Amino acid sequence: MNHLPLLPAGFRFGMSTAAHQIEGAADIDGKGASIWNTFEKRPGTIRHGENASVAIDHYHRVAEDVAHIADSGAHDYRFSISWPRVLPEGVGRVEPRGLDFYDSLVDTLLARGVRPVPTLYHWDLPQALEDEGGWMSRATASAFADYVAVVAARLGDRVTDWITLNEMNVHTLYGYALTDHAPARGLGMAALPAAHHQLLGHGLAVQALRSAGATAVGVASQHFPVVAASQEHEDLVAAETFSTLTNWTFSDPLLLGRYPSDDILSLMPGTNSQISADLEIISVPLDFYGVNYYEPTSIEAPKAGKDYAGVLEVDVPEGMPFSPVAYDADWRTDFGWAVVPDALRDILIQLNARYPALPPVIITENGASFHDPAPGEDGAVHDEGRVRFLDAHLRAVGEAIESGVDVRGYYVWSAFDNYEWAAGYDERFGLVHVDRDTLERTRKDSWHWYRSVIAAQPSLG
Ligand code: NOJ
Repeated sequence: MNHLPLLPAGFRFGMSTAAHQIEGAADIDGKGASIWNTFEKRPGTIRHGENASVAIDHYHRVAEDVAHIADSGAHDYRFSISWPRVLPEGVGRVEPRGLDFYDSLVDTLLARGVRPVPTLYHWDLPQALEDEGGWMSRATASAFADYVAVVAARLGDRVTDWITLNEMNVHTLYGYALTDHAPARGLGMAALPAAHHQLLGHGLAVQALRSAGATAVGVASQHFPVVAASQEHEDLVAAETFSTLTNWTFSDPLLLGRYPSDDILSLMPGTNSQISADLEIISVPLDFYGVNYYEPTSIEAPKAGKDYAGVLEVDVPEGMPFSPVAYDADWRTDFGWAVVPDALRDILIQLNARYPALPPVIITENGASFHDPAPGEDGAVHDEGRVRFLDAHLRAVGEAIESGVDVRGYYVWSAFDNYEWAAGYDERFGLVHVDRDTLERTRKDSWHWYRSVIAAQPSLG
């Protein structure tokens, strides 16, 4: 394999995780229940009936896990803070043991020279707030800002870089429009207020973080190019609609201060003047824009008599005028996701063109699930597929930079094999293998490859 082109001096390599997917300790040290703890208890929600009560037990293995991250030479570690671990009821009473956990994680990272980049919300809403309406309620946005202020007051003397929310679009689509993820509301298009309230929560959180002295505040948004399955009018309209809903409904408010169309605006909660005032808060300039990328999607309008079984990539609420189909790719991950590195380059170029004030970009997630075997007799995990995937996507990032996009960092999803939400533990995204029975960690070939990539780059200036 050819050496990767050098990325710009100062380019930051990192790894990402999320609290619910790795921590376990679901009800230890006063942690409150999250919507995922509730969802997992319902039969039929998670593959093989699994849950994240133990996950990979990161809560009790921080020292070892930080060593796996730091030894790779990674500059940054993106993890998430569990809101119900810090405020078990979502508002009011603070659980000091929850804050202590993150305080000590931050110190352990800094002692190893790794920059902590916490995400303040990665889908694990306190159940107590869901009981009051969850993200469908405007009060959740201000509760989020209050929680963020509590965390920033404790960690802000050492943490400078923050991410507010993770993938508001995926949370809205799967958790509120559909029923695949918690809180499984199944509201269809009526879920859009959950989008607005998360966006408002983001804007209010930026204010709270800046007041606490944060110097780098961003958000992590999932983006993917959407292409029409054909040039037929209905397919073009369906693809445009899908991209508007999943991409621009979230990034236009953040980066342009408006919703992409009057149709979308009309589905948002509140009077027009209230929404306008909210958009001022939502569009406060950011220090970086996080892009999570996995695969592109092609969309076609439903066709009479066509059997879509086996080609549906994404479920969409009934009544939406399109049907997502598999993207044309010659290679797929073991999760069945299309491997199209060019689409990462393309979405970055698209974002740069659409948003004149796009802040520097960090790829806050990119990675692949392969069903890696357990370590062999040589003690190694040979995951050539993941190396090939990551290598190709880093090259795509290099091409986007050459085309003028200001990309400053790249974080692999994920540091460790972990709990892949409704798909449970079968889907392994880690650079470090985790044995499901013993929880023993083993560095995969991709971990060693990533270390050599980082070592070969110009040193940070
Ligand atoms: C995006 C999500 O942020 C993360 O939690 C998830 O595991 C990866 N995608 C892979 O699906």
